[in-house]
Amino acid sequence: MGTSVKRGSPPAGEGEAERRADERRLAELRAEIDRLDGEILRLFNERLERARAVGAVKRRLGLPVRDMRREAEIFRRLAELNRGRLLADRHLVRVFAALMAAAREVQSDGAHPADGFGTPALFAVFGNPVVHSLSPVMHNAAFAATGYPGMYAAIRAKDIRPAMAGVRALGFRGASITIPHKEAVLACLDFIDPRARRIGAVNTVVNDAGELKGFNTDWEGIVRALGERVALAGRRVAVLGAGGAARAAVFGARHAGARVTVYNRTRDKGEALAVALGADFRPLEEFDPADCEILVQATPVGMSPRTAETPLPAERLRPGLVVMDIVYTPLKTRLLAEAEAAGCQTVDGLSMFLYQGARQFELWTGLEAPLDIMRLAVETELTARG
Ligand SMILES: NC(=O)c1ccc[n+]([C@@H]2O[C@H](COP(=O)([O-])OP(=O)(O)OC[C@H]3O[C@@H](n4cnc5c(N)ncnc54)[C@H](OP(=O)(O)O)[C@@H]3O)[C@@H](O)[C@H]2O)c1
Repeated sequence: MGTSVKRGSPPAGEGEAERRADERRLAELRAEIDRLDGEILRLFNERLERARAVGAVKRRLGLPVRDMRREAEIFRRLAELNRGRLLADRHLVRVFAALMAAAREVQSDGAHPADGFGTPALFAVFGNPVVHSLSPVMHNAAFAATGYPGMYAAIRAKDIRPAMAGVRALGFRGASITIPHKEAVLACLDFIDPRARRIGAVNTVVNDAGELKGFNTDWEGIVRALGERVALAGRRVAVLGAGGAARAAVFGARHAGARVTVYNRTRDKGEALAVALGADFRPLEEFDPADCEILVQATPVGMSPRTAETPLPAERLRPGLVVMDIVYTPLKTRLLAEAEAAGCQTVDGLSMFLYQGARQFELWTGLEAPLDIMRLAVETELTARG
């Protein structure tokens, strides 16, 4: 197809002939795309006919229209089928989420399950920096999968006060708050959940008819992620760090019945946290793995791009210790790699991220969070980012 490399300008007329050939090729390709669109539309409708038949059977069997487990299975299977193909998984999720929403409508015999939600609801994560946040990918996938008409963006906010004024003025339905605003945002809210107040940090804002309510879902994320691996009640937990995430970890572990020791580089900050939340304090360099069964790394050390760093030398790890790193970029931090090599059980920060996000989704929408789809969306995005 005329791919030879030409030197200098083409002879008169040749450029024009090539342009006409390209125009013909464009017309041909567009005709193929139109034909494929028609075929896709026919298949979509064929699929919806089956969905209508499924709806009739479900009504006879007394089964609900919505089956989240089945939907999650479909997404997993499609992601598997799509592996290595041109369609990015985030688009695959959007296309099939829309198709499933249409199928639910058909199954409900024309009822519009999403109609009750009203006009699109706005959400954003406010932080600085925020450009690499995975929250938009995760929450937009959840909105698409559930048919909730939400739109979620990442907004860089240097100052949280005007950002929260904007949330009020523009009628945002909710917001996620991230570094460095989780503490300062408390002063901008009308109501603060007592647990968030105790932690001293809010990562979730719900706009309840003009009243801004603050919650902390990080602690629930940590407890749920750890709880999948190990029972916390009665265990000795070491928390590294004394920032917002560490406060959530200490609160969560204490709430679950664990005994907690805070290890921090700066004594004053670590001691203040320990006193406030009923934990012990030791300087970071005195960490001894014999003193705990579970270690929660809650400092930013090891986070991309400074992936070569670790808060503890590898010789401070021992087999059998459960090591959770709440950093999730990268998923396997140096600490987790060394913990694995030392025979520890490891828990990465992604589960915590998903569980704190799932709780946010539930607070904002009142719907059950589609966890599998949120996980798929985030894992795919992390893989795409390399
Ligand atoms: N997985 C999730 O869902 C999730 C949720 C929230 C946060 N996170 C992650 O958790 C990490 C911490 O967040 P944060 O909000 O708590 O941050 P932060 O408030 O900035 O945490 C600072 C804490 O880390 C300690 N620290 C910082 N650099 C250190 C170093 N080089 N050596 C030893 N200690 C060091 C500080 O010690 P000093 O007191 O001595 O300064 C302080 O206690 C971030 O990477 C964040 O992305 C993950």
